[in-house]
Formats: sequence, structure tokens, C-alpha cells
Amino acid sequence: MADTLKGRHVLVTAGPTREPIDPVRFISNHSSGRQGYAIAAACAALGARVTLVAGPTALPDPDAVETIHIETARDMLAAVETSLPADVFIAVAAVADWRPAEPSDRKLKLDKARFSSLPLVENPDILKTIAQMGDGRPGLVIGFAAETHDVETLAVAKRKRKGCDWIVANDVSGDVMGGAENAVLLVTADGVESWDRAEKSEIGRRLAARIAEARV
Ligand code: C5P
Repeated sequence: MADTLKGRHVLVTAGPTREPIDPVRFISNHSSGRQGYAIAAACAALGARVTLVAGPTALPDPDAVETIHIETARDMLAAVETSLPADVFIAVAAVADWRPAEPSDRKLKLDKARFSSLPLVENPDILKTIAQMGDGRPGLVIGFAAETHDVETLAVAKRKRKGCDWIVANDVSGDVMGGAENAVLLVTADGVESWDRAEKSEIGRRLAARIAEARV
């Protein structure tokens, strides 16, 4: 019988976060959510109970996945913490590293001096928070790395810095962000594997199969 994720709870973050400047403006990024949604769907197809915490995307909720919609990084962290315990945590979201320090509850006027600089504060690092939690840490914590250069070196360093078990690294120098395909490196404690360029849905299936093999 094929490897299965039956009986496992897999928690996935996906998409961008949106950090308000005022009621009509925000800081965000080009993440489409496609890779995270594909991973969530692939884990569900292998029998896992899947919770997907998603920032704003244009995608339909995947079948057989509990999808929680959030906007900001802080809301994403809260939804992740509420969804624990999990056997596997996969941080695919492109979380905004910074947010405006004091979002305005009124639309800002462009002529205001305030708009010549926008004070920012750091957002929580969701992957690091979950990877470095003590009791209740998921057995397998997987992070993503999107880099435009030195992909392998940076991914190996990122695995250590975040304290996660695996890093899935992709080269975003081409059309990966928002595109249908992805070319990835899988960095584990045992070394680095290079996966052929494939549809994001196929990358999702390969990753789900690898997680099932890990038997966490
Ligand atoms: O540090 P960097 O943003 O390059 O790390 C990317 C990885 O960390 C991804 O797995 C992403 O989902 C996760 N991350 C996070 N919270 C942040 C920043 C990144 O979970 N605030």
C-alpha cells in the first residue's frame, strides 16, 4: 500500500499577508498562494486532516481542507497557534517581514508630510516561532525559501537559523512567483536534493509523498 498521511494533522500557511497603512492601502507582495494551496490539497489527497491558513489570494478553497482566511502576519500567527497541535507544519506563506507601525484609521492624504516616510515594525516570524517552540512542536517543521541567487547556500543557512527540519528552496529569479511551475531544492539534515522543474501541483504531490515517507 502507498504511503499515507491518514491520522495526521498537517497545518499549512499560504499566500501573502497584507499589512494595512490606512483603510485603503497596504504593504504586500506578489505571492499567489498556488504552491501552498497545492501542498495542502496534496496532503489531503494522501488522507491527512489539513488546516490551511491563507492570506488573500484569488484561489478557491481546496476540497477537503479546512481553510482559515486571514490578512495580517499577526492574524496568521494567531490562527496557526489556535490550529495546533499538528504533526506537520509547512510555512509556505510569503509573510510580510514588516508592517506599518501605526496604521491610520482614516485615509491618509498624499500631501501630508507623513507620507514621505513610513515607520515600520518587524512582524513575528511564524516559521521560527513554531520551529523553536518547546512542548507541542510539530514533529516535522518545513520552511520555504525564495531566493534570486546563491539558493543552496542561503537555504542551508536558513534551515539552521529558523530551527526547522526541512527547507524547500526555490529560485524566484524567473517567473516562479505567481507562475504555474516551480524548481526546488529540498534541504534536510541529510543533505540537499534537487527536484526537476515541475507544475506546482506536482511539487505539492512530491512533498506530500516525502512527508508520508518521513512517518512523523
Ligand atoms: O526569512 P524568510 O522570509 O526568507 O523565510 C521564509 C520562510 O519563513 C517561509 O517558510 C515563510 O513562510 C516563513 N516566514 C514566516 N514568518 C515570517 C517570515 C517568513 O513564517 N514573518
